[in-house]
Amino acid sequence: VIQLHCKPPGAIGTEVRIGAPVRTGLGALLEAACGDRVRFVIADRQALPAFSTEPVVDRLLEGGEAIKCMAGLGSLLADLADRRIDRRGVVVAIGGGATGDLGGLAAALWLRGVELVMVPTTLLSMVDSSVGGKTAIDLPQGKNLVGAFWPASLVLIDLGFVTTLPERELASGLGEVLKMAIGLDAELFELCERERDGILARDPDLLAQCVERALRAKIAIVERDPSELGDRRLLNLGHTLGHALEVHSGYRTAHGVAVARGMHHALRLAEAEGLLDPTDRERAGRLLEAYGFAPTDVPPKSALREFVASDKKVVGDKLHVVLPDAIGSSRTLPMTPDAFLAGL
Ligand SMILES: NC(=O)c1ccc[n+]([C@@H]2O[C@H](COP(=O)([O-])OP(=O)(O)OC[C@H]3O[C@@H](n4cnc5c(N)ncnc54)[C@H](O)[C@@H]3O)[C@@H](O)[C@H]2O)c1
Repeated sequence: VIQLHCKPPGAIGTEVRIGAPVRTGLGALLEAACGDRVRFVIADRQALPAFSTEPVVDRLLEGGEAIKCMAGLGSLLADLADRRIDRRGVVVAIGGGATGDLGGLAAALWLRGVELVMVPTTLLSMVDSSVGGKTAIDLPQGKNLVGAFWPASLVLIDLGFVTTLPERELASGLGEVLKMAIGLDAELFELCERERDGILARDPDLLAQCVERALRAKIAIVERDPSELGDRRLLNLGHTLGHALEVHSGYRTAHGVAVARGMHHALRLAEAEGLLDPTDRERAGRLLEAYGFAPTDVPPKSALREFVASDKKVVGDKLHVVLPDAIGSSRTLPMTPDAFLAGL
């Protein structure tokens, strides 16, 4: 088991255990972590078949973006009230980013905040959403508009959950792994280049290495900038266009897949701006293609402009676009939405 710690100044610290035997021994792990405190366990139904014996679950959820809504939050809080979860209580969220975001927000709000344990079961939630403290639900007006910073105290990662993931969800997680590789970690980039076949075959040891490297890079950034006022924006490589593509598709395009498309665009822009060497641009583009993320056609600029302009990275009239400036390194560049889209 590999242990990592994330402790931004002034925030609750998170202990991450990569390789924890969740599928075979969740009960014992929770017993050790929570002792006699009352636990409320929510779980994504799709994660259950991976367990060797079904865990005790208080509330089953369906997974997917649709659960991140006001009604879902209200009903979860009502459950916490009915079960009389007290201030020493613990909310345990087993599932992907959607379950984690919803369960995390309920934990943040219930009695002004109770402890949170996350058990991420999608690759995306292992490499990204379970660490860093962001929780949120959506409104009809937009994604993640209502939320709180509320980090889990403990994140238990069992790579065995990846075996039951549908291809689409594997690709979505790999898109985020490649984002960390291209934008933040040259060693992860080399690992992804060298071990492509094993990673795509879901080799648990290789995936554990990817998760560890991606989380180390994320933790370093979150500790420097927990509330996303500076460096944390670098985690958004590929997201400006990616998010617009995701919304434009009505969320049919998986998040990580949209981000990978956004990265092709960011690579081209970075080269055009003279920030990125053409050889590095080609190498990063080849890596994306090697994982099945070809630079496909995108909708017309006119259809994307509104989504790009309402991106949360807009400050004044400028987007803070994340552009790679070498393999494993990136920076932000202020640009108007039109300049950003001109390169498409
Ligand atoms: N909080 C953050 O920092 C952060 C970061 C990135 C993304 N997010 C959020 O995370 C969400 C996306 O996360 P996600 O991709 O994990 O989505 P998700 O939680 O909806 O899971 C994707 C699908 O996989 C299923 N699933 C989960 N575990 C499974 C398993 N082991 N086997 C088979 N199927 C399984 C789910 O039921 C769902 O259908 C978005 O809402 C996004 O906004 C949050």
